[in-house]
Amino acid sequence: GLNSNSPVIQVGNQGSGAVITKEVTILYGSQTGNSKGLANKAAKTLETSGFKLTVVSMNDFKPNQLKKIKNLLIVVSTHGEGDPPDNALTFFDYLHSKRAPKLDDLHFSVLALGDSSYEFFCKTGKDFDQRLEELGGTRLYPRFDCDVDYDEPAEEWIQGVFSSLKDTEGESENFELGVQSIVSESVYSRTNPFKAEVLENINLNGRGSNKETRHLELSIEGSGLTFEPGDSLGIYPENDPDLVDLILNELNWSPDEIVTLKQGDTRSLYDALYSFYEITVLTKPLLEKIGKLSTNQEYQDLLSPGNEGRVKAYIEGRDLLDLIRDFGVWGNTAQEFVSVLRKIPVRLYSIASSLAANPDEVHLTIGAVRYEVNGRRRNGVCSILTAERLQPGDILPVFIQHNENFKLPANPEAPIIMIGPGTGVAPFRSFMQEREELGIEGKSWLFFGDQHFVSDFLYQIEWQKWLESGVLTRADVAFSRDQEEKVYVQNRMLENSKELFMWLEEGAYVYVCGDEKNMARDVHHTLIEIIETESGLSREKAEEYVARLLQQKRYQRDVY
Ligand code: 2AM
Repeated sequence: GLNSNSPVIQVGNQGSGAVITKEVTILYGSQTGNSKGLANKAAKTLETSGFKLTVVSMNDFKPNQLKKIKNLLIVVSTHGEGDPPDNALTFFDYLHSKRAPKLDDLHFSVLALGDSSYEFFCKTGKDFDQRLEELGGTRLYPRFDCDVDYDEPAEEWIQGVFSSLKDTEGESENFELGVQSIVSESVYSRTNPFKAEVLENINLNGRGSNKETRHLELSIEGSGLTFEPGDSLGIYPENDPDLVDLILNELNWSPDEIVTLKQGDTRSLYDALYSFYEITVLTKPLLEKIGKLSTNQEYQDLLSPGNEGRVKAYIEGRDLLDLIRDFGVWGNTAQEFVSVLRKIPVRLYSIASSLAANPDEVHLTIGAVRYEVNGRRRNGVCSILTAERLQPGDILPVFIQHNENFKLPANPEAPIIMIGPGTGVAPFRSFMQEREELGIEGKSWLFFGDQHFVSDFLYQIEWQKWLESGVLTRADVAFSRDQEEKVYVQNRMLENSKELFMWLEEGAYVYVCGDEKNMARDVHHTLIEIIETESGLSREKAEEYVARLLQQKRYQRDVY
């Protein structure tokens, strides 16, 4: 029989003495860590009930193991314009290629994460779900598509998967995949945020700058929270009180009216709009829900079939106040009015400090977002809360979002290349603080860019100090608006093409943080160009070189 230390757990049929172990594999693909967190949560639930669990990042999964899996759970987020996260790319491409095996014995279910304010909501999860069926797999539980407030639906999916797995016959399988350890956590988490005190809040930009970049220092003393360079901090922000007032002016209900929130607790209408519901973004699902309540004919016309393009154009750059002003209020009660709204999504910021260097503190670098569109000034929710209202002594609910996709090399000797214009420089300040504190000797190279040298060189004195002490080996900066022609970080990379390629050949890790749509895309192509030129390889081979860097985790991106 089994002794108590056996890793194999008995389930079912125990009366007859037979040992049946049902094995379940969970593959996750995560850009920010949400999918990993949920994969581990599902694993814990299922393990407690006696299943044998294997949790693997898609990046570490050997595709030739796929045919041996009987029960597969996929937890995956969607990135940008419907793309898989970086660490899911290789597996995603493999599964969609001709090399993918028939999977007639497979039982599977997909948990898809996404954000309904993006057009291609949960697309990667949908793609996996469809493809696994095409390859012959059987759905053991329907796919769930989760919006940013995913805790409840994800829990329901886990319970549903659990019931389905229990109902089907157990089978014994024996193979090794390399089980991912489940990280232990502080009592504080996404669902139980720590109330961090603001210690410092300053503007990093000088006089005359077009920008305002806040350096925010928070205390996490007593929280038990820990993090590593590359991790992010999640913040539960509050809305702009001026915007809340403007909305309340349009409504016929008193701000003191009591409404019930999703979790069942009650708030005044004012508080609900101030600190619980999203009021700055319109999504397609939101407009459809309002369609069931609105009696405005013009609004019903907008939503009628064939108008998808118009709806898409309308929600772009508009908020709740625009919608109410354009089409009136919906619902007969304040409760009905708020019932269609989505919870304020948490904001994630790459941490700009090292815990080793600054115990009990988290530093952030936050760019203030202000713009004008559709005839009104608009403010970023969390960045303007920081820039205009947060004072030392104030409290912010926060949690740590671990990011295994943005980590310093395990080998301290490995050279690192850091590309981080604007607020993208944040994690590299953390990298440098950590390397300085721990006395790590590997070479390092920073590419930083912003508009103007005099006003926008974020943390300039610190970089100079690290250059002098040798913690930072070299720095190349691109100030785009100090001369006639635009100069960007990728221009500096090209100017140093030979040297950069030598670093790559020496095993350097490349990190890119910051703007996704323009900067990270251009830097990506520049990297390929540099490899092509310096190695003499074909374009195709240079692309493979970069794909290999990604696969080996020597090319890591934290982009937004
Ligand atoms: P610009 O705004 O003057 O065009 C940080 O915001 C820096 O990134 C700025 O200097 C900005 O330049 C620059 N930037 C804008 N687009 C970029 C791109 N596609 N690649 C690299 N840097 C870019």
